Amino acid sequence: MNKKMRVGVLISGRGSNLQALIKACEAHDFPAEIVVVVSNTPDAQGLERARRADIPCVVVDHRDYKNRAAFDAEMTWALEDAKVELVCLAGFMRLLSETFVEHWWDKLINIHPSLLPAFKGLGVQRRAIESGARFSGCTVHYVRHEMDVGPIITQAVVPIHNADDVGALSKRILEQEHRIYPMAVRWIAEQRVRVEGPRVIVSGYGPPENVLLNPAPK
Ligand code: GRF
Repeated sequence: MNKKMRVGVLISGRGSNLQALIKACEAHDFPAEIVVVVSNTPDAQGLERARRADIPCVVVDHRDYKNRAAFDAEMTWALEDAKVELVCLAGFMRLLSETFVEHWWDKLINIHPSLLPAFKGLGVQRRAIESGARFSGCTVHYVRHEMDVGPIITQAVVPIHNADDVGALSKRILEQEHRIYPMAVRWIAEQRVRVEGPRVIVSGYGPPENVLLNPAPK
């Protein structure tokens, strides 16, 4: 196989998406490898997951930097030092500077637990339930200057049940996050992904065949 794409993952907390990426990368035929995990919090659970997998970790504690530019510059340094080719935000809870986003333009992706462009920001599972929407899901997208905006690489759709609370819906969405994030990384590493303005073209993949209904006829 050709050289594996070098991935850096940015985390702030639990790191379950990081874990899904670690697991995917363990397959010998997966075309990417995680070469560094950067956390802005020293006690992020995800750091433990990375260490267990022998992945180098760097803590860039935002409280140690006088402003966002200095903090972001340090993160870029850590990523460049590891010769990272793709940066994955995985529950990274800091806003990034314009300079950082521009530096990693089309090399910086994020996963978000809603069907963007609906429900940007935080508390999105609760807001999806409260809206009465019948479906939600998750989105992998390229990062642009605005939060939770950028060309969408892939989405997974899950139903919202009448009896759902935030925990139930979050769990249903998270299971799909763990499927689609590694899949998107694989596609990028396989050079199937092309950004054309607001749209992403994934070569070799077409539209799904099925339409989902909710409620569905019995
Ligand atoms: C996920 O729901 C992700 O979509 C969002 O933050 C959460 C991070 O969870 N951006 P984890 O740290 O990957 O477990």
